Amino acid sequence: MVASVNSNDMSIPTSESVNSALPAVKLSMGLGGLVLVLLMLFGLCLRLVQGGLLSLEPALFYEIMTAHGAGMVGTAALTGAAIMWFFLARHVELTGAVYWLMLALFLLGVALVLGAIFVGGFAGAWTFLYPLPAHSGGVWEPGAAAIFLAGLISIGVGFLLFYLETGRAIIARYGNLSRALAWPLLFGGTQDDVPPPTVVASAAVIVFNGIGIIVGAAVLVISLINLFAPGFAIDPLLAKNMIYFFGHVFINATIYMAVIAVYEIVPEYTGRPWKTSRIFAAAWSAILLMVLAVYPHHLLQDTVMPGWALVMGQVISYLAGLPVIVVTAFSLLAYLNRSGIRWDLTSALLVTGVFGWSAGVIPAIIDAVIVVNKVMHNTLWVPGHFHFYLLLGEMAMAFGFMAWLTRARAADELSGANYWGFLAYLIGGVGVAVMFLIGGAMSVPRRWAVHLPEWFIQDRVGSLFAVISIIGAVVLLGRYLARAVTTARA
Ligand code: HEM
Repeated sequence: MVASVNSNDMSIPTSESVNSALPAVKLSMGLGGLVLVLLMLFGLCLRLVQGGLLSLEPALFYEIMTAHGAGMVGTAALTGAAIMWFFLARHVELTGAVYWLMLALFLLGVALVLGAIFVGGFAGAWTFLYPLPAHSGGVWEPGAAAIFLAGLISIGVGFLLFYLETGRAIIARYGNLSRALAWPLLFGGTQDDVPPPTVVASAAVIVFNGIGIIVGAAVLVISLINLFAPGFAIDPLLAKNMIYFFGHVFINATIYMAVIAVYEIVPEYTGRPWKTSRIFAAAWSAILLMVLAVYPHHLLQDTVMPGWALVMGQVISYLAGLPVIVVTAFSLLAYLNRSGIRWDLTSALLVTGVFGWSAGVIPAIIDAVIVVNKVMHNTLWVPGHFHFYLLLGEMAMAFGFMAWLTRARAADELSGANYWGFLAYLIGGVGVAVMFLIGGAMSVPRRWAVHLPEWFIQDRVGSLFAVISIIGAVVLLGRYLARAVTTARA
């Protein structure tokens, strides 16, 4: 049997379910870490070009930006999914073959996306905004755009299978999704079989990201057909709504999956189980609804949008940060308080992850105020927000999970290379995000390959922080790979 200190679920399946997940999860985290470092180098290139320290053709800049954006979103999704699968296997019986199938479709998708970009020259950004893929102005052929879209469809199908399987396993164990979301506890005050936080969080992600992926798949297929049959068109505003709904939900889901590592691992350090309370259940049900409804804050500059949708985007953006901050950040502080926690690489990275996530949502809430958005949205303020919560939130949680997965007491102490690696990742990451935010506050436009000399200073300081954060990531990844090899041999 697998012991789980952080669960109020008394029936835990055999360790077979957990053990069978281990190789696939370890492989995913290793691949995720390697790709992350490579794409951080791509990000550094972009920053150096913007700062006038490196010269690249604009077309190549946008190819690298497309690879960086699509690849980072994919990496965050893969590492988040690996974390969710690993811990969910403690509570329900999962079919390991489905994870491998998801991974195979993911890697096929990555190969197609990379081919479309670096062989076909596709450079329309990961957001593939309709009808841009079909209107390259001669920069890429429709075939390259088609391969890019097919790659995203392959990745999407893989994730849909992942959610269908995790949803099936949860329903097999808890009877239905409302019980898995702890609704009897939330609305009735009691539940005989209260699901642990991992199951509640997973059930919410399955519902919202399942819907998001289906909407994304629909607009991807429409865009694909449109490439070869231009008469087969869709209203561009509807397409934009579908794309931003999908993109926003998908990238949010990455961190909502990764936070499961905090719920499962932190109790091992504090000795205090992370319980599903009524407030916890309420917060996750609120997250479920708000993640679906908040996306219009990406369309506040589209004056042709219905007024009610824009107001909804603004108001829900204020509220959406609350469950994050109240239920995870505030609870974490309460669990840590006087717990006598042992600080090592894992605990430091997981706590950093919650800090990065909570701090990173604040610029988004500011940007979601319509009058602010009018001047801020197409500036570097927005990359400032999402680099904060992805680099220091999702990826810090992923590195924390990787440290825990390959733990060995002596190798985990927060000293020597671990200490300097962690510090470099933290300081470098904060610097990268803050320099974007400063750029945004100076009204430096987003997605410009060529910057004015007046903007160089913050681009160059940002590049320096990028180098520091890459050094940190290399140290953390090197430790993981070395430990993974040692434990595989043992
Ligand atoms: C060393 C760290 C990093 C550096 C230096 C970096 C740099 C950059 C730069 C310069 C851009 C283009 C900004 C613009 O002008 O609009 C960008 C965009 C982006 N980055 Fe990063 N980045 C880093 C890490 C990350 C991480 C860890 C993630 C996610 C896990 C990420 C996700 C993205 C995304 C989604 C975009 C948007 C691409 C687009 O606009 O289509 N980046 N990054």
